[in-house]
Amino acid sequence: MASLKGRDFLKLLDFESEDIVHLLDLAHQLKALKRNGIVHRYFEGRNIVLLFEKTSTRTRCSFEVAGYDLGMGVTFLDPGSSQVSKKESIADTARVLSRFYDGIEYRGFGQKIVEELAEYADCPVWNGLTDEWHPTQMIADVMTMQENFGHDLRGRKLVFMGDARNNVANSLMVICAKLGINFVACGPAANQPEAWLVETCTAIAAGNGSTVLVTDDVERGCTGADVIYTDVWVSMGEPDEVWAQRIEALSPYQVNSQVMQYAGPDAIFMHCLPSYHDTNTTIGAKIAEQFGINEMEVTNEVFESAQSRVFDEAENRMHAIKAVIYATLSDEPIAD
Ligand code: CP
Ligand code: NVA
Repeated sequence: MASLKGRDFLKLLDFESEDIVHLLDLAHQLKALKRNGIVHRYFEGRNIVLLFEKTSTRTRCSFEVAGYDLGMGVTFLDPGSSQVSKKESIADTARVLSRFYDGIEYRGFGQKIVEELAEYADCPVWNGLTDEWHPTQMIADVMTMQENFGHDLRGRKLVFMGDARNNVANSLMVICAKLGINFVACGPAANQPEAWLVETCTAIAAGNGSTVLVTDDVERGCTGADVIYTDVWVSMGEPDEVWAQRIEALSPYQVNSQVMQYAGPDAIFMHCLPSYHDTNTTIGAKIAEQFGINEMEVTNEVFESAQSRVFDEAENRMHAIKAVIYATLSDEPIAD
């Protein structure tokens, strides 16, 4: 495997399967260190900056805690507290931040912004979510699958239900193809992934002995699945006006007990979070008032069920992000 030291982490299409396996192995090792209380401040004296143009709980906290655990200084910048975009271009921001920091995390809108940041920065740039991709989420998700089904996931089946062309669905299709996991995008025509990506992933999957299926048929899509995965119906950056249309189009693709029955008793439920599974959020309550529904992409019953792994998945974000930071800043193996 080629070293990942000095590489950016922008999207999984840029990486070989063996690179992804390496990141997963590192993430499990780092999780064990943390669980066993073994101090791992490998990067004392180094600093990273987190640039967020969209809101976050998991990704921000994961980068912060991962940074602190590795002994680093961490700076958080939100759009309101920096010059980025309004007064300073991405190219200039990248060149300034590179003089201070050893790594830059970016969460925001178009993928081209994080690509430009990486082009001008002298240090690794990590994609903490764009409109198109969410690569750090993927390492955590596959880690969670490995904890449930064992290390080798070839031949397993993951179904993404709902808005099957968003950043999380796109990224899942790529990582499944790279690791030989059968991937199903299950949603209505308007919410299915773009043809070029399906073609690209189908070819990668074929090389790894797996398949990509795009379907609007819930029973066909979910039968025999090992993982049922969903995400919000409207992503950050999309206008509020799309809610009505999405609720109508995606309600048949809600993850409920019928879907979990198609999958079977050994299947697990996953969600990147945050999730609208009840009305205990401002938006959830507003949608309930406006559209008369109390749960959206997943029912509260499935979310809270014994098959749900959503909080393991959330924890794994931190270990996964620590692995990405580690691998792009050092090629020294971690001592067990
Ligand atoms: N899953 C995820 O990226 O969560 P946040 O938006 O809270 O970072
Ligand atoms: N698709 C969601 C993922 C959030 C982690 C969004 O972009 O809002």
